[in-house]
Amino acid sequence: MIEKNESVKRLLQVGIALSSVENLDTLLDLILKEAQELMGCDGASIFLLENDKLVFKAMRSGTYFKMWGEDKTRATFKTFEMPLTKNSIAGYVAITASALNIPDVSQIPAGEQYRYDPTFDEKYGYRTVSLLVMPIKNKKNQVLGVLEMINAIENDKVTKFNGEDMEIAESFSSQAGVAIQNTSLTEQLREANFDTIFRLSVAAEYRDKETSNHIKRVSYYARLIADKLRYCSEDCSLIFWAAPMHDIGKLGIPDAILQKPGPLDPEERKIMEKHSVIGAKVLKDSKVPVILKSKVVALAHHEKYDGTGYPMKLKGNAIPVEGRLVAIADVFDALTSKRVYKAQMPEEQALKIMRESRGTHFDPEMLDCFLGSMADVREIRDKFEDKPEDFDKLKDVGSEDLNELLK
Ligand SMILES: [Fe+2]
Ligand SMILES: [Fe+2]
Repeated sequence: MIEKNESVKRLLQVGIALSSVENLDTLLDLILKEAQELMGCDGASIFLLENDKLVFKAMRSGTYFKMWGEDKTRATFKTFEMPLTKNSIAGYVAITASALNIPDVSQIPAGEQYRYDPTFDEKYGYRTVSLLVMPIKNKKNQVLGVLEMINAIENDKVTKFNGEDMEIAESFSSQAGVAIQNTSLTEQLREANFDTIFRLSVAAEYRDKETSNHIKRVSYYARLIADKLRYCSEDCSLIFWAAPMHDIGKLGIPDAILQKPGPLDPEERKIMEKHSVIGAKVLKDSKVPVILKSKVVALAHHEKYDGTGYPMKLKGNAIPVEGRLVAIADVFDALTSKRVYKAQMPEEQALKIMRESRGTHFDPEMLDCFLGSMADVREIRDKFEDKPEDFDKLKDVGSEDLNELLK
C-alpha cells in the first residue's frame, strides 16, 4: 500500500496511462495491475456487462502468478459468463451500482442477498478473505462492469480494506470506466471500418469469377508471411486488412472481359491489366493508413520480382513489400482453388510452379517463408474452402426472405 499523497500523484499518472491505451485487453490488464499496486492487494479481477450478462474478462493474482506463472494462470482463469443477479457479489455491485467492502467473505451476514462463490478457491487451494468490489461506471453513470480487489495485504498478512482504500478505489474505478468506454468506442469504430473494407471487397468480387473466400484466404496468407518475417503486429494487421482490396479496380473492367470464360486476347489483357491502376486511383488521397496500404497493394500486386510485371515493371525491392506479399498469396490461391472454368490444381503441382518462380515472379525470402509454413497455409485453405454455392453468387437473388434481410 502506498502513502496517501503518493496515491493521489499515482492516481493522476494512472489516469494518463489508462487514457492512452487503444486495445481493450491491454487496458483491462493495465487496470488490474494498477489496482493491485494502488490498493496493495494480492489479486484483482474485472467483469464487464455484455447483453445483460456479467462476463469475467481478466484477472491478476500475486499468489497464482508466483505459483504458476502468468501464462498458466491466464489459461486457467479463462473468460466466462454469469447471469446478472444480486446473488453473486459482482452481480450485486453491478445492479445496485454501489461498492461493497467485505472484510471476510466467510462472514457475510445471513441476511445479505449476495453470497461468495468459493468454487475457484476450493479447486485451487486459494483462500479469499477480504474483497473490495467497485462498480465501473461511464460518464453517464451507467454501470459498465465490476472491479474486484482481492485480499488486502499489510505487512505480508491478509487484512481488510479500509476507508482510505475505498476512496482511492472510487477515483480509480471512475478513471477506469472512462478509459474502458473510450477504448471500446475506438475498437468498435475500428471494427466497423474493417467490416466495411471487407464488404466492399466482396462487392467488387461479385462481378468477378473469384469467390469471397478468395479474398479471405489471400488476406490470411499475406499476414502469415508477414508474421513469419517477424513484422510487428501492427504491420501484420495493416497487411491483413489491405490485402482484400487488391482487385478492387476490377469494378472498372467491362463484364465482357472480366467474365469471359476463355483466355483473353492481347487487347483484352491490356484492358484487364488496368485494374491495378484503377484500384489505386479509387484508394488514393486517403488519410487512413490501411486505405493507403490498400492503394499500394492494388497498384503493386502484379509486379514481378524480375521486373516483368505490371503496371510499372518494378524490380526486386523496388516493389513495395505489401505488393510482393500479396503477389505470393494471390497467385498461390488462384492456382490452388477451384473455379467455374477450371479444376483445382493438385498442391504439389502448384508448389512446383511457385518454386520455379522464386526470384523471377516472387521475392525469394518471402516465398521461402511461405513455403516453410505449409501446415498453416493448409489450415487457412481448409477453413475458407469454397462451397458450390459460393460460385453462383446471383443464383438465388429474388428467392431470399426479405423480412429476414430487413432485421
Ligand atoms: Fe489483380
Ligand atoms: Fe485476387
